[in-house]
Amino acid sequence: MILSIEDLRQIAKRRVPRAIFDYADGGSYDERTLRANTADLDALQFRQRVMVDVSAVDLATTVAGQPMAMPLAIGPTGLAGLFHADGEILGARAAAACGIPFCLSTMSICSIEDVRAASDAPFWFQQYLMRDRGFNQELIERAAAAQCSALVLTLDLQVLAQRRRDARNGLSIPPRLTLRNAWDIATKPAWAVRVLMGKRRTFGNLAGRLGGGDGIKTLAQWTNSQFDPTASWRDVEWVRSRWPGRLILKGVMDAEDARFALSAGADAVVVSNHGGRQLDGAPSSISVLPEIVAAIDGRCDVLFDGGIRSGQDLAKALALGARAGLIGKAFLFALAAGGQAGVIRAIEIMRDELKLTLALTGTTSAAGVGRHILWTG
Ligand SMILES: Cc1cc2nc3c(=O)[nH]c(=O)nc-3n(C[C@H](O)[C@H](O)[C@H](O)COP(=O)(O)O)c2cc1C
Repeated sequence: MILSIEDLRQIAKRRVPRAIFDYADGGSYDERTLRANTADLDALQFRQRVMVDVSAVDLATTVAGQPMAMPLAIGPTGLAGLFHADGEILGARAAAACGIPFCLSTMSICSIEDVRAASDAPFWFQQYLMRDRGFNQELIERAAAAQCSALVLTLDLQVLAQRRRDARNGLSIPPRLTLRNAWDIATKPAWAVRVLMGKRRTFGNLAGRLGGGDGIKTLAQWTNSQFDPTASWRDVEWVRSRWPGRLILKGVMDAEDARFALSAGADAVVVSNHGGRQLDGAPSSISVLPEIVAAIDGRCDVLFDGGIRSGQDLAKALALGARAGLIGKAFLFALAAGGQAGVIRAIEIMRDELKLTLALTGTTSAAGVGRHILWTG
């Protein structure tokens, strides 16, 4: 019986090799920020209200003017296509079926063009600032040609923090059968047939940029050689000047940076510590959300990610001022567990939990959520 995101996580753990599962499940260094993201959400409590007509709860909202069925989007995650064959295509279709946005990562297995060809619904596209700005320009043009409805520029990965689980597991792209992982892979035959022997196994958007051979040794090596450690707000303005559509700036954890993001022309910002995968020791996303919301002061939408594993977590983020939440790990676990149907199940679980939670706090719409739904003692 699949009743929670944790149920999907347990199935995912059995279905994909350890190196792939750990890539999603882990964080950087001692994983303190990873744990804080969920622990600080858990610590918030709701204010129970009764005798309010909650027969209809309206979850519909907008982000930077784009309508969505509920205040949730699938965040950008690299390598989703290794969790399930055609993972990004299935994720985009699941999101479209549920009326929410799907964000494709530059570091995806299926390319922008693959996803465009396989799904009618517009999707968001995420990119990093690369040393080769010509590549950014090319990606912007490809996203425009694919009619992406927003560009998400991720700001918090100029340099890559160490993820010890990946280093220990020897995560390689494309995944390879080695003596060390042979038993692990042998016990996941469905994954091996679909992914290891499938046609898409390496970075779909980076064709011709992987530097010879059939791929790269490690994700960390490639990232460090390609991502631009010198990037500044002027480069964000450069992207803004080239992308006429919605621009969402992801990775804002500081009120001063929130103001810079506004000045650079953001249509929305995402309060995010990259799911605890970058600066270990940074506070949880939920603990800084209120100060970012205050700094933005209604001048653009504030989105939130980091630790969302239920509709209740989402309700807490909305209560502290987020317009919508993004999911990373929850999406990948659902994808690994059940492909497109698994992702739809995850979104439905979160939708039903959110609806019920709002009803039990006496709230009848996502727009009506505020701090008043939290118990403050
Ligand atoms: C496996 C994995 C890969 C990710 N890849 C990207 C990426 O390519 N670009 C990006 O902006 N964020 C990436 N993220 C971060 C997510 O977009 C998001 O910020 C984070 O996962 C939210 O926290 P959560 O996993 O607790 O939901 C990734 C996260 C995970 C778990």
